[in-house]
Amino acid sequence: MKVTSAEFITSAVKRSGFPEELLPEVAFAGKSNVGKSSLINTLVNRKNLVRTSSSPGRTQMLNFFRINNQVNFVDFPGYGFAKVPLKVRAQWKPMVESYLKHRTTLQLVIILLDIRRVPSSDDSSLIRWLESFNIPFLIVLTKTDKLSQNKCSAQQKIIQDFLLLKREEVICFSAVTKKGRQEILKRIMSVI
Ligand code: GTP
Ligand code: MG
Repeated sequence: MKVTSAEFITSAVKRSGFPEELLPEVAFAGKSNVGKSSLINTLVNRKNLVRTSSSPGRTQMLNFFRINNQVNFVDFPGYGFAKVPLKVRAQWKPMVESYLKHRTTLQLVIILLDIRRVPSSDDSSLIRWLESFNIPFLIVLTKTDKLSQNKCSAQQKIIQDFLLLKREEVICFSAVTKKGRQEILKRIMSVI
């Protein structure tokens, strides 16, 4: 997949604000600060299509982007960050669930996990929830540049076993080295 255009469409907190269901969609979910916005920027080869931040909890709405007039990427707000105001956190679940349950164009949910950490209960509940609704997902382990190759492999195995995942459901990635970029794009192409 060669990315020739990438543009912001809209931000929304509820279904009435979502864009029309015209193109297949891929959603990016994961804990605050795990690197969702950075992954999208890397995939589309743009430094700042999506705003990234070193302070967690910056993205608070669903942000829709159109790529190549071929697919929409949806950047989710991160979960599990205590400093995000309670009101915003309370909004997360209904917002994300109404999107995931009803979006007919949704083809794939990419769930990001920090390769250095044990997945949280929020991570596992999201995965089990997607499985129960038969929504296809892919796990991307981020920030692999922070570990040696050996340590990465060991961590990957631990996370896979912990979440009861198959090898092919997990891809290692780094926004710094761009490792995994092509593999993720290939996977996206195969579902859209
Ligand atoms: P929220 O929108 O707050 O949920 O965060 P997010 O998941 O969108 O994370 P974001 O992409 O904003 O990245 C958070 C921080 O992690 C930023 O400082 C990034 O530069 C850094 N980061 C993201 N991906 C990587 C990576 O692969 N390697 C390294 N070393 N840093 C990364
Ligand atoms: Mg973000």
